[in-house]
Amino acid sequence: MGNIIEIEGLTKKYGALVALNNLTLNVEEGAVVGFIGPNGAGKTTTMRILTTLLKPTSGQASVAGHSVIREPQKVRRVIGYMPDFFGVYEDMKVWEYLDFFAACYDIPAATRNGMIDDLLSLVDLNHKKDDFVENLSRGMKQRLCLARTLTHDPQVLILDEPASGLDPRARIEMRELLRELKNMGKTIFFSSHILSEVADICTSIAILEAGNLVAYGDMAEMKKQLRPHRLIQIRVLGDLTPLQEALLHADKVGETLAAPEVDLPPDTLRFDFAGNDQDLSHLLASLVSHGIPIISFQEETGDLEDVFMQVTRGVVS
Ligand SMILES: Nc1ncnc2c1ncn2[C@@H]1O[C@H](COP(=O)(O)OP(=O)(O)OP(=O)(O)O)[C@@H](O)[C@H]1O
Ligand SMILES: [Mg+2]
Repeated sequence: MGNIIEIEGLTKKYGALVALNNLTLNVEEGAVVGFIGPNGAGKTTTMRILTTLLKPTSGQASVAGHSVIREPQKVRRVIGYMPDFFGVYEDMKVWEYLDFFAACYDIPAATRNGMIDDLLSLVDLNHKKDDFVENLSRGMKQRLCLARTLTHDPQVLILDEPASGLDPRARIEMRELLRELKNMGKTIFFSSHILSEVADICTSIAILEAGNLVAYGDMAEMKKQLRPHRLIQIRVLGDLTPLQEALLHADKVGETLAAPEVDLPPDTLRFDFAGNDQDLSHLLASLVSHGIPIISFQEETGDLEDVFMQVTRGVVS
């Protein structure tokens, strides 16, 4: 499939400050790209340029083949944008809110009703249809805002921190919703501060730091490359020695470390593992069958940002 977003040499300066420095990035149709970076990295700036709300200082970008600089109207038709902050409309009911945005996109009144019901069931807000927008919880407002971006059935969704300010449950619900939109064939470009939180739904990840793209890569490729670097932690009842001996004879187990060599509790050890999930489950079964009193057995996810940076070093200049 071709690229649906093309960004080439995009730079944005605010006075002397270079908010975005020569960003080049392509997004394939149907991809889900996590755009990760700390505060002030330039994520919102990039998204505002892509959504035609801000002019770049130099460089170019296009969405579905339309230039954001020369054809802003066409770009707006193919994108749905959820900004990082959105105002609350007083005295407006949930259905009126969606009706208003659908009308803005010239959707005929006759089809709006059914469409609003469909959108509300997608974001699980049917039961709030006649409530006032200002009375919704933060998570519900965020889902309503996402529904609003879908009124004109855009191909590309540009979502600026869709999960910010949400409690853990609402974050999971937002993730499920993004997954559903991906299955509907949408291309999703969304920002977040935390890589580990979005990694499982992304097909690729772009990391931005102080206006510079420091890493960009395919998530499946990353995961494959990370396989040899798996780190497993096991905690046992009592003495670690029987476990250490068993691991010495086990397949695919690399270096084994425990306290005081590493900063781990005295009942826990960590080792490198070069196998796949099936090998891992065999290892656990075999340790248990040898009578090792395991309390916990888990893979360290570690700091995904660090691992990602190591893997992508050299791949991305
Ligand atoms: N209108 C503006 N005028 C001057 N400087 C700006 C303006 N908008 C953004 N900046 C600066 O540009 C840089 C990038 O800001 P941007 O909002 O794009 O970052 P961000 O990655 O979205 O951060 P956050 O995670 O906090 O949302 C920051 O240093 C910010 O202060
Ligand atoms: Mg931002």
